[in-house]
Order: sequence, then C-alpha cells, then structure tokens
Amino acid sequence: MLRYLRNLTTAGFSHFNGFIEYETQQAWWRTMDFRVRGWLYMTNDTPRQLAGYGVLRVEDGRWWNSVAVHPDQQGHGYGSFITHDLIGRHDSEIFSAIRRDNTAAMAMHHADDWREIEGPEPDRLIYLISRVP
Ligand SMILES: CC(C)(COP(=O)(O)OP(=O)(O)OC[C@H]1O[C@@H](n2cnc3c(N)ncnc32)[C@H](O)[C@@H]1OP(=O)(O)O)[C@@H](O)C(=O)NCCC(=O)NCCS
Repeated sequence: MLRYLRNLTTAGFSHFNGFIEYETQQAWWRTMDFRVRGWLYMTNDTPRQLAGYGVLRVEDGRWWNSVAVHPDQQGHGYGSFITHDLIGRHDSEIFSAIRRDNTAAMAMHHADDWREIEGPEPDRLIYLISRVP
C-alpha cells in the first residue's frame, strides 16, 4: 500500500521521482531496519478509502517525515491531519525537505508553522523543522 501510494504521488517527492519496484522497496526497508516507522490512513467514508501515509525515518541523527495523500483525496485536510499525527506520535522535532516547486507541500508546511533552516540545496529544496510537539 505504501509503495502504491508513493508511486501514485511520486512527482512531489524531493529525491527520487521514478517508479519504485517491489524489490527496491523491500531492500530499502531492510536497509532502514528499525530506523523507519510508517502508518496508513483511511477516510471516514463507508466503505473506507485509502487516504494517505505518513512515514518517519531517522537519518544523520534527524527524524525526517514523508507524507503522501491519494490524489482522489487531496485538498480535504488529510495531509495536515497526517502531518499533525506524525508530530503527535513523536517526542522530538521532525525535519522535512520540500522541493521549492511543490506548491501543495510548501503551503501545507507553512500553514503549520514549520521553521525554515539552512540546507545543502537551498535553490531546489527547503529544509524545515517542526514545532516541538
Ligand atoms: C502535499 C500533500 C501531502 C498535501 O496533502 P493534502 O491533503 O492535499 O493537503 P491539505 O488538504 O491537508 O492542505 C494543507 C494546506 O495546504 C494547502 N494546499 C494544499 N494543496 C495546495 C495546493 N495545491 N496549492 C496551494 N495550497 C495547497 C491547503 O490550502 C491547506 O492550507 P490551510 O491549512 O491554510 O487551508 C499532497 O498534495 C501530496 O500527497 N502530494 C504528493 C506527495 C508530496 O509531495 N509529499 C510531500 C513530500 S513530504
């Protein structure tokens, strides 16, 4: 399900925008071992629909988020809900790398008071830090 959603929304992501094969995803989860946590979110409809996912992974001592909302469900608050839920599940600050041309993700994080910090690719990406939960 995570891979399905990731491949549906791949254009928005900051690092890899290609199609992720099953084997590639399995290898990534094995590499990450216990350094990644992920949740799927469903709508309240009957029957429930897949709304999106939220993933937290630790790299270089920082916890980074990744959020995707199914294209049919975008614009209904799920992205913000998932982002808040990730913050609530975690006990320290969360980092986010957002491509400057990703209007939706930029708007979502700015609407939620994430603070911009310096990053290695300032022309392409902004690096954000969440408010403390
Ligand atoms: C980014 C993404 C998660 C946003 O999810 P969403 O459910 O559509 O967003 P929400 O409905 O919760 O909207 C959150 C805020 O962003 C704003 N927003 C959302 N899409 C927008 C768009 N295309 N243009 C401008 N603002 C937008 C909303 O108005 C809202 O602001 P508000 O709280 O001030 O009203 C979704 O577009 C997505 O899955 N994109 C592909 C994957 C991706 O880019 N992930 C980000 C990398 S971490």
